Amino acid sequence: MLRSLRAAKLIGHRGLAGLAPENTMAAFAAAADAGLRWVELDAKLCASGELVVLHDNKVDRTSNGQGRAEHMAWPALQRLDAGSWFDRRFAGERIPLLTDVLTFCAERGIGINIELKPNPHDYVATARVLAELLRAGRWLDRLPLLASSFSRQSLRAIKRYLPELPRGFLLERRWPAEAILAELTALDAVSFHYDDALISAELITAVRASGRDVLVWTVNDADRAETLWRAGVSAVFSDLPLATTGQHR
Ligand code: G3P
Ligand code: MG
Repeated sequence: MLRSLRAAKLIGHRGLAGLAPENTMAAFAAAADAGLRWVELDAKLCASGELVVLHDNKVDRTSNGQGRAEHMAWPALQRLDAGSWFDRRFAGERIPLLTDVLTFCAERGIGINIELKPNPHDYVATARVLAELLRAGRWLDRLPLLASSFSRQSLRAIKRYLPELPRGFLLERRWPAEAILAELTALDAVSFHYDDALISAELITAVRASGRDVLVWTVNDADRAETLWRAGVSAVFSDLPLATTGQHR
């Protein structure tokens, strides 16, 4: 379905979280400099209504601030140091806006998997803001994009507000293959994203047979990535540029 993703085989996880502070511009630059063609990021709404690039509900783990991003307005979030926790070399890195990463990746010809991590009770609003932002900036014409989420409400809302945006369904626990296929059909999803600890050869085969791509996180070992690609996985999310091992083809 997503031809450029299949060709890339590798998606930089949270930018390239092994080499630079996750979900910062430094991490997206690291992915681009390593030659990656796709990156993944986590996006959520902050208190002033912008989509910011952040994994956790709270800023505590990945910045020098404290509190939930949904309660913080963009000017306050923008002031936080999101790099020093990772390494002093990255002091001064900021939490980016989604538009910052879209601009950078469009310039570098990189695709983005936007993983929506809505705040509780924000499922529909998060998807609506994403749809409005992408439509207003004509971003679908400027770079390859794939939206994904654990939230089926968010994915259903994307289908309603911006149906042309490809959707991927993430699952954090075991489900029977038939239930997964039924949900992929209901969401009209192009891809299924699963934890490496949960994926099986049978499930890969079943999802592929339905015409969809299988993406697996987080794979930081080149041999494991090779095994998954051979089994039919289209791409793996990695914190590291596995291509540098020489085993990524
Ligand atoms: O989108 C794939 C992967 O990022 C999902 O898990 O917790 O790293 O966002 P997480
Ligand atoms: Mg993610």
